[in-house]
Amino acid sequence: MKKTFWSLLVVAILSALVLTACGGGGGASITRVDPPADYASKTSPAADAAAGQTIYTQNCTSCHGDAGLGDGPAGAALDPVPGNLQTAAKEASDAYLFWIISEGGAAASRSASMAAYKGVLSEADIWNVIAYIKTLK
Ligand code: HEC
Repeated sequence: MKKTFWSLLVVAILSALVLTACGGGGGASITRVDPPADYASKTSPAADAAAGQTIYTQNCTSCHGDAGLGDGPAGAALDPVPGNLQTAAKEASDAYLFWIISEGGAAASRSASMAAYKGVLSEADIWNVIAYIKTLK
């Protein structure tokens, strides 16, 4: 009886330790909040991934890297490091991608190092760059 109690206690403590290790500050997990109403319903028009590549190379590679892995030279010093765009293209909605690129990281409760591009790029070009991000492998 006593032995069972101690075994259960050990199991409980070990489980707690494992849960803490995985849940706390793992770094890899990203919380994406939902876009506000004016962005939530956005869907991509027909977009030009080739045009998006030019825009990406000029504006995004420095931080996000050629393949979008978040490993560009200017991104290395940032904390948090720039997002992995291959993962983002799989996990996030078009509306989310359009929102964070347009309004910047701060608006989306993310890093302010991710700038707002709505004054820099046209809406069509933001959709083009999203189309290009989806081709990254
Ligand atoms: C100065 C460096 C920098 C540049 C340049 C930059 N970004 Fe970012 N970007 C970031 C950082 C840092 C984050 C991560 C913010 C976070 O995790 O809080 C981010 C996040 C993102 C995300 C969200 C990723 C996710 O997983 O949810 C997208 C999408 C994105 N950037 C696209 C772009 C595009 C497209 C461009 C070019 C038009 C660009 N970024 C240019 C630094 C940059």
